[in-house]
Amino acid sequence: MEPIIEVKDLVKSFRATRGVGKRSRSTPTVEAVANVSFTIKPNEIVSIVGESGSGKTTLGRLMVRLMEPNSGSIFFEGKDIFKMKSKSILEFRRNVQMILQDPYDSLNPLYSIEASTKQPLNIFMKKMSAKEKRDTVISYLEMTGLRPAEEFLGKRPGELSGGQRQRVSIARALITAPKFIVADEPVSMLDVSLRAEILNTMKRLKESKGVSIMFITHDIATAKFMGDRILIFYKGTIVEHGKMSEVMNSPMHPYTKLLIDSVPSTNLEEARDYLSFNEEADIKQLMPAGNEGCRFADRCPHAMSRCSAESPHNVKVSSDHEVLCFLYG
Ligand SMILES: Nc1ncnc2c1ncn2[C@@H]1O[C@H](COP(=O)(O)OP(=O)(O)OP(=O)(O)O)[C@@H](O)[C@H]1O
Ligand code: SF4
Ligand SMILES: [Mg+2]
Repeated sequence: MEPIIEVKDLVKSFRATRGVGKRSRSTPTVEAVANVSFTIKPNEIVSIVGESGSGKTTLGRLMVRLMEPNSGSIFFEGKDIFKMKSKSILEFRRNVQMILQDPYDSLNPLYSIEASTKQPLNIFMKKMSAKEKRDTVISYLEMTGLRPAEEFLGKRPGELSGGQRQRVSIARALITAPKFIVADEPVSMLDVSLRAEILNTMKRLKESKGVSIMFITHDIATAKFMGDRILIFYKGTIVEHGKMSEVMNSPMHPYTKLLIDSVPSTNLEEARDYLSFNEEADIKQLMPAGNEGCRFADRCPHAMSRCSAESPHNVKVSSDHEVLCFLYG
């Protein structure tokens, strides 16, 4: 089956401004996304799991064309998204949506919930009647758990709880029936019971509408719950990826093993916050551009001398399982 998304040799670097004081001419360039390649198939959920500062949001923003890479390409249904002309860009925007970590970033505080949720229909579904639009808004709000939806239509985002706001931004992202969604920690601000409900809604959507989802999380238990496949992200690189069951049952990369061993339980609700051990990571997470060596070498219990001198390459361990580590070749 042809992939819906193909990411090829993607690189995004920043001048290190955040967390390291003022920028100067000597400020190093750091790679938030370092030569990343992978594919996502139609009707598939791919979980991306990584620590805070590992580059997940940067990757997500690149995938929906909110920023340009330094190099590399992303193909959506075979078309390079960074080379699209205006008509294809509009079509791309209807088909590809991003659900952000913080709903404040996607909802205009001055707009009513009805106006915000309806906005994509006004842009992309111009032929819909006013009644059809209103009915569609109501059904999507209810689908994300805002019931009865009529009670929310006239409210402003500030009158809703964080969880309710996130439901509105999810309804808004889904309302044009996109083919591909980047969901960037979409439930991290919701409480546990609502979290499971939203995740199940997203899974049902995949089943019923055939949508593909790139699900970004720092929580391996949620990643496991959601994904058909998993990408383990570390300092801007994919250190292991493959079919979910295979990676979870036979993790190969020392970092993946550490992640799985450090989960107290793979139960979604019990394990949700275990992975915040590296909150201070930020700039330390990143690697100066052009540095050789395995990015995990300073934490790896199996590090060898070559690990800090050479960069490992991907080793295929089965038809849908690859690992970036010298231990395997
Ligand atoms: N606009 C920017 N300018 C400079 N540096 C940036 C910018 N955006 C991201 N970075 C750097 O890239 C790194 C990766 O950031 P990113 O937000 O992609 O990580 P993340 O994995 O999404 O983290 P979190 O789990 O905390 O959301 C950060 O440590 C940050 O220093
Ligand atoms: S390449 Fe070396 S340092 Fe990196 S994960 Fe493998 S053994 Fe550890
Ligand atoms: Mg992020």
